[in-house]
Amino acid sequence: MTPLAEMAEAVLRCADGREKTALSRRFAAQWQAARAAGETPEIGHAAPPMHPARAQAPALLSPRDVPRRRPGTPEGRIALLHAVAHIELNAVDLHWDIIARFCDTRLPMGFYDDWVRAADEESKHFNLMCDCLEAAGSHYGALPAHAGMWRAAEDTATDLMGRLAVVPMVLEARGLDVTPGMIEVFRRAREADAVTALETIYAEEVSHVAYGSKWFHFLCGRHDEDPKERFHALVRQYFHGALKPPFNEEKRAEAGIPPDFYWPLSEDFRD
Ligand SMILES: [Fe+2]
Ligand SMILES: [Fe+2]
Repeated sequence: MTPLAEMAEAVLRCADGREKTALSRRFAAQWQAARAAGETPEIGHAAPPMHPARAQAPALLSPRDVPRRRPGTPEGRIALLHAVAHIELNAVDLHWDIIARFCDTRLPMGFYDDWVRAADEESKHFNLMCDCLEAAGSHYGALPAHAGMWRAAEDTATDLMGRLAVVPMVLEARGLDVTPGMIEVFRRAREADAVTALETIYAEEVSHVAYGSKWFHFLCGRHDEDPKERFHALVRQYFHGALKPPFNEEKRAEAGIPPDFYWPLSEDFRD
């Protein structure tokens, strides 16, 4: 079997979304089969690109230039699905990137099991969103998408604890806050396939946030640091702006993120 870090780099260097997710799912299945057989596969080394490969479309625009569409219209719902597809594609790369980027840090096998599983689930999520777009007569790439989705990865390219704090514990946790509202939009429009797809995403994202919290706490333990203090310092260092309430406190708790981690970083917090 190809060493895991090399698999991760191959996914990052694949530009087409559907091809990327097919590769990602195939590698994940290989890893999981080896682990289920009791093997300890090699992690190896990689030289991942600073930015993952991307297809010509969608055009990437600065967030303020991406046209806003109202979710009450079919076009608005297509734009919403397109935005989620774009997030999922970046998430596939983010999860493989954490494996490739930090391959020289000594970590337990469980770290790799978790991120391979998360990458596999993100690949499924991207495909689900593409299926919904195609059923609605559109496709991923038909609309412009946000540039700057990779900013957090770039900023934390040499800081594994910073990466865990900002990507799963801030950005993916934010997904838990906003997804129920999105599900409601499609439920009201009676778009059952989109509702089912988003419910799958919502359920599986909890575990990605939980992996972030688990490995963040693990590394705090390794370095004898206070997790809450370290989290606050890292988010202030790498995340630009305050966290936005309302927070999904229940799902955040399920994922191992207590309120005193995020409330003090929120725009509503006054001390
Ligand atoms: Fe996802
Ligand atoms: Fe995720």
